[in-house]
Amino acid sequence: MRLFIAIELPGDIKRELGRLWTDIPGARRVPTDQIHLTLAFLGEVEEAALERLTGELARIQVPEFRLCFSTVGCFPDRRRPRVLWVGLVPHPLLKLLAAGVREAVLACGIPQEERPFSPHITLARLKLSAPRECEAFLDRQPGQKLPSFTVREFILFQSRLTPQGALHTPLMGFPLTDADALGEG
Ligand code: 2AM
Repeated sequence: MRLFIAIELPGDIKRELGRLWTDIPGARRVPTDQIHLTLAFLGEVEEAALERLTGELARIQVPEFRLCFSTVGCFPDRRRPRVLWVGLVPHPLLKLLAAGVREAVLACGIPQEERPFSPHITLARLKLSAPRECEAFLDRQPGQKLPSFTVREFILFQSRLTPQGALHTPLMGFPLTDADALGEG
């Protein structure tokens, strides 16, 4: 099973992110309903490892938190744009959550990249480099301010590769700690 772990975004925010897009030659945009914030990419995982993995993920204890969007950007750089994304204002609890997920995945013997977690929401991937068109997209600041949103859970997704593109299926959700419950009693 090809797996990844991500934060799902509210539908209205996905629609607003979808509206930021303008066509760029050679770009494959992420379908609006599939826009997500990746915490970890696991790749192919044996089905037998799933129970251990979900057990490890369920042990993560991070309180709910609010995320704010920053600006649009690209990987690896503006000269050779391959991934266009919208960034998030760094949040210590997002960092803590990503670190917890990484530890849980590693504990199951699933390798993870060494490079540090860089929170972003991918809007499109480019097969061909189109630096000029990407530059124009990146320089055009989103007219509207994107609203912040509360992260209440993270999700283990299965990704099936099909000729029509990847199909994402949520397998299990893991709730964060209710922030209001903290400090009670
Ligand atoms: P991204 O959002 O940073 O682009 C589901 O496929 C998610 O897993 C994607 O959104 C992508 O994260 C990440 N992903 C897909 N293939 C990957 C790969 N080969 N290596 C690392 N991350 C990958």
